[in-house]
Amino acid sequence: MNNSAIGVFDSGIGGLTCVEELINLLPNEDIVYLGDTARVPYGTRSRETIMSYARQDIEFLKQHNVKMILVACGTVSSVLSFMKEDPGISVSGVVQPAVKAACAATKNNRIGIIATSATVKSGVYGKVIRSINPEIKVVGKACPMFVPLVENGYTSPDCPPARYFAEEYLEIMKEEEVDTLILGCTHYPHLSELISQVMGDRVTLVSSGAELAKYALNTLTYSDSTADREESGNIELYCTDSEELFSENVEKFLGKNINAKISKCSLKL
Ligand code: DGL
Repeated sequence: MNNSAIGVFDSGIGGLTCVEELINLLPNEDIVYLGDTARVPYGTRSRETIMSYARQDIEFLKQHNVKMILVACGTVSSVLSFMKEDPGISVSGVVQPAVKAACAATKNNRIGIIATSATVKSGVYGKVIRSINPEIKVVGKACPMFVPLVENGYTSPDCPPARYFAEEYLEIMKEEEVDTLILGCTHYPHLSELISQVMGDRVTLVSSGAELAKYALNTLTYSDSTADREESGNIELYCTDSEELFSENVEKFLGKNINAKISKCSLKL
């Protein structure tokens, strides 16, 4: 048993897709979330910059005495293996859990991965998928306009700019006949309805943030480290830019009834 909170971070609001699933799976856990909204997007930046931001995000969460850190950011997850220093706490990213789910779901051995430019460029998904099954064909596509669309609330399938970019980016996935598509950026599940309409309902969408939450459930259960309380856990959400815009997005994505304390914080930039 361990009553410390679970720490989660992302460059913005994308990691809320992981928090949503954590609340479903582990309702008694305290959660501390950091969305680095002042510096989103991370996905267009260099590996060094992404690692330096990630170190600050990890330090912030460590100050909140968390028992584990979930990197609910595909971009940071794709550079985690390059961070050689020991963070002194368990830090897990989205890649392995998402790959495991996708490999289990594919029937025709054709998996698509859509993510930020940094994640696609890293090639990490192809590497991990092929280490599990070298027969699987992996098709990657960067979708740089998806994050700004989500951060600004343009997520409806009826929204013309969102549909334009979805059709443009997903064309290759249809041509390559993938039957499983990893949403390798945690912002993308906010566009699931649209992505599903464009891809067709026979294609399985894998939400990397939700898979990370399932991984947390398994890890905490097997190590006997779940919280020992009957009541719902406390949810503390931090952002580094406008609290107002962040609160609107939280309400939109986690629902109006979410009982969360929202604050702005500084990472001493
Ligand atoms: N949610 C981040 C990811 O999963 C957003 C990308 C970004 O900051 O560019 O990659």
